[in-house]
Amino acid sequence: MIKIALIGLGYVGLPLARLFATKYPVVGFDVNKKRVDELMSGHDRTLEVDDAILKSVLSPCHCGLDPQSPNKTGLLCSSNLEDIKNCNYYIVTVPTPVDKNNRPDLTPLYKASETVGKVIKKGDIVIYESTVYPGATEEDCIPVVEKTSGLKFNVDFFAGYSPERINPGDKEHTVEKIKKVTSGSTPETGKLVNELYSSVIQAGTHLAPTIRVAEAAKVIENSQRDINIAFVNELKKIFDKMGIDTNAVLEAAGTKWNFLHFKPGLVGGHCIGVDPYYLAQKAQEYGYHPEIILAGRRMNDSMGEYVASEVVKKMIKQGIQVKGANILVLGITFKENCPDIRNSKVVDVVRALKEYDTNVRIYDPWANQEEVRREYGLDILTKLPEEKFDAVVTAVMHREFRGVKPNSDVVYVIKDIIL
Ligand SMILES: NC(=O)c1ccc[n+]([C@@H]2O[C@H](COP(=O)([O-])OP(=O)(O)OC[C@H]3O[C@@H](n4cnc5c(N)ncnc54)[C@H](O)[C@@H]3O)[C@@H](O)[C@H]2O)c1
Repeated sequence: MIKIALIGLGYVGLPLARLFATKYPVVGFDVNKKRVDELMSGHDRTLEVDDAILKSVLSPCHCGLDPQSPNKTGLLCSSNLEDIKNCNYYIVTVPTPVDKNNRPDLTPLYKASETVGKVIKKGDIVIYESTVYPGATEEDCIPVVEKTSGLKFNVDFFAGYSPERINPGDKEHTVEKIKKVTSGSTPETGKLVNELYSSVIQAGTHLAPTIRVAEAAKVIENSQRDINIAFVNELKKIFDKMGIDTNAVLEAAGTKWNFLHFKPGLVGGHCIGVDPYYLAQKAQEYGYHPEIILAGRRMNDSMGEYVASEVVKKMIKQGIQVKGANILVLGITFKENCPDIRNSKVVDVVRALKEYDTNVRIYDPWANQEEVRREYGLDILTKLPEEKFDAVVTAVMHREFRGVKPNSDVVYVIKDIIL
């Protein structure tokens, strides 16, 4: 009987836990007790899983804990290690951030691997889902599991890697509708991992030949998007100088059958703007210094300041005094229709505008006020202000902002990009 533990109940872990819970007994384990309590009360603040759907799978007791029905399907969320002891598949979905120098920070993965090491038993399988560089699972994570458990890899326990491709806020491409890459540390494990995912993913699976191939596939998917967006961001800088409308150019060029559709904009969040650094770091360990990957990163990271300078130019051309000007920024989350504020590049725009001694106010109906204050030291408004502003920057095109005519003579709209 398959019993699954999901380690890390965030944007990736919770939807997956919910999906598996329709078919298997699942325990979602998270170190954040507040998150666990909230989920057990039937609410997901990331809005990835609808409350009614979450409640329909919640189960207060199982995975062998319930002597009456040890194999009951459903989801129990917990911060208690005891609750995942009876599982035989451990799926790790913890964050993989970078540090302040853009170097991969594997701390959450090491800690989650220790957790798995404390409970894994002979014959069990640990599957990593977090985005990493090729080699991270077998070279960095598995040794921690081995050390903590005292068990031997590929003899006593086995591993898999299956990267997640969900797109937060996207209600169309939900986890079961996205084809899933799978892999295993041995051919037999690959088959088992693949069967596990095939049993719930409607879109099907692709079994990669090795864990390293699966890891590399995920990191290049995101790096490719980053580089493509960097290219159109560069085009925007060129065409702005030439007085040509970049979006009109992209629309015209997009009529060719093989032209790729990307829009200029800010690249935030903790996937596209972060994952290329993982690949770059590993490449450097092998003595290769990536040029295109890092050039893309530099270009995209420069866009916040660029947007601010364009807004200021627009104001000057209209004869508006920049020092002391009142500017409204609409949207602070890293992308539209999603409450995730992590690594939001709108913050770069706000900081750059403030350097011109302007008064910046921010309105975002999706973001959590407290989180924004804690993360960035910024206060956000909870209501769209009615007064006239010297400039309005629509930074994130949430659905609430579509069709809204900002009360200002200077309006700058950052085109929405679906990351
Ligand atoms: N968010 C996305 O759109 C997305 C898409 C595809 C892949 N990914 C990748 O998936 C991984 C997870 O991302 P996310 O957005 O779900 O992160 P998240 O921050 O939303 O969630 C991570 C959860 O893990 C918990 N956690 C952290 N350390 C833990 C530990 N040691 N033990 C148990 N729980 C722990 C946190 O409390 C949090 O609830 C990352 O590698 C990310 O790059 C994310």
